[in-house]
Amino acid sequence: MESIKGFIIEYKKTIKETLSVINKNGCGICFVVKNRKLLGLVTDGDLRRYFLKENNLECQISDIMNKKFVYFHVQTAASIIRDSFKEDIKYIPLIDDEFNLVDIASITKTHRIQLLEPDLSGNEMNYIQDCLKTNWISSQGQYVKKFEKLFSELHLNRYSLSVSNGTCALHLSLKALDIGMGDEVIVPNITFAACANAVIQAGADPVFCEINKNTWCIKSSEIESLITSKTKAIMVVHLYGQVADIESIKQIALKYGLYLIEDCAEAIGSVFKGKPVGVFGDAATFSFFGNKTISTGEGGMVLFKDKNFASKCKILRDHGMNPDIKYWHDFSGYNYRLTNMQAAVGLAQLERFKSIVEKKIKISYWYESLLHDCDGISQKPVKIKFIKHSNWLYTIILEKNFDKNRVINELFKYGIETRRIFYPLNEMPPYKKFKCSKDLSNSKFISKHGISLPTSVNLQKDDISYIVKCLKKVLVNSYN
Ligand SMILES: Cc1ncc(COP(=O)(O)O)c(C=O)c1O
Repeated sequence: MESIKGFIIEYKKTIKETLSVINKNGCGICFVVKNRKLLGLVTDGDLRRYFLKENNLECQISDIMNKKFVYFHVQTAASIIRDSFKEDIKYIPLIDDEFNLVDIASITKTHRIQLLEPDLSGNEMNYIQDCLKTNWISSQGQYVKKFEKLFSELHLNRYSLSVSNGTCALHLSLKALDIGMGDEVIVPNITFAACANAVIQAGADPVFCEINKNTWCIKSSEIESLITSKTKAIMVVHLYGQVADIESIKQIALKYGLYLIEDCAEAIGSVFKGKPVGVFGDAATFSFFGNKTISTGEGGMVLFKDKNFASKCKILRDHGMNPDIKYWHDFSGYNYRLTNMQAAVGLAQLERFKSIVEKKIKISYWYESLLHDCDGISQKPVKIKFIKHSNWLYTIILEKNFDKNRVINELFKYGIETRRIFYPLNEMPPYKKFKCSKDLSNSKFISKHGISLPTSVNLQKDDISYIVKCLKKVLVNSYN
């Protein structure tokens, strides 16, 4: 466990040696172990108190360590761990079934290698402070405008409207395109449920389409069979950063006079034939949730090609109020605005857009090369001509004979957070009643065997090597 080494002291060591460990890690704490078993912990406060009474640097650390302390099993939910931090508890040891110390949670990281965490190392803090200092904390303010402007510039000057999250971005795009009661929208069967929920909330019915077995995005050759007189739109999701078969799907949309909506929540920075995702559809949506490539905590964006749709969407975003006559409502609308503070974070993130996306792609190359000799993987993200895959979340499909849940649980014991692929939408209770493709075997297979590996922009090659090393170890013991 390379990176917790700096926090560990063997129980037989002296106070002097413990001081040296604490001094090196700079965190004011270390954990006392016998082999790997956790016996206690020592803080610099404990040592201070000891020296006020005694003065023996050679005393064995196990004689003075704290034996009562907060700890959790490594598989404890992140939310429970997070709620246990206090002013005086900034580090919590995580143990396995044998009480071995396997990881250390801190206020900023509940597990050592989280699936996805944002990098807020640019102007985020400066801009937030600026909002607070100037009192511009609501959705009125310069940062919202600047964020939207820069977003448009990165997307061929399409009309950008920032919103509260990616789900209301989807909802708003459907409403702006006048999609509602009695309409059908074709949605891929493997995606986050927000896609189906937004369609249902707009009053329309989702129709679930099988996915392509290589890209895991909507299967373009299947779409036409699902089109009826009620179909109004095709919602394409660029899953995990992969670009869906956008050219063929656009042709189908044109042939049948359907709207094309691109859900780019997971694919900001992906490119097809030199153009960024989001510029191919009539509308496109983005999410800036905390785990997304560009994050504002919560947040989203809607992108339109057509100015009229954008203008309508802007009104709907602001309660449906007429922009020229205050408190006169032309539509029954929503409050889906992003705050100036969120936009301030977004702007700071977009300033580093290029380097963030490049780093994400670099991570995919590291995985690709380190996994080349890893047995047990049936698929890795597929490389397709003309597509730049932005690698939001590096995902692999295990071979059939591996127990995916066991792999996830075992990796957690090494402090590595991973994630299953979404469940097929058609199989879940709220969506069972809607129409779907006859053959959904790809959805089933990919969902059953897929896992996503940590892909935070902050990860270094050493971290990826560690993850792959652990994955290889875990796979050996995870045969069904
Ligand atoms: C494909 C997809 N669509 C939509 C959303 C919804 O975005 P948000 O969480 O910002 O509402 C997500 C987010 O997680 C997503 O992955």
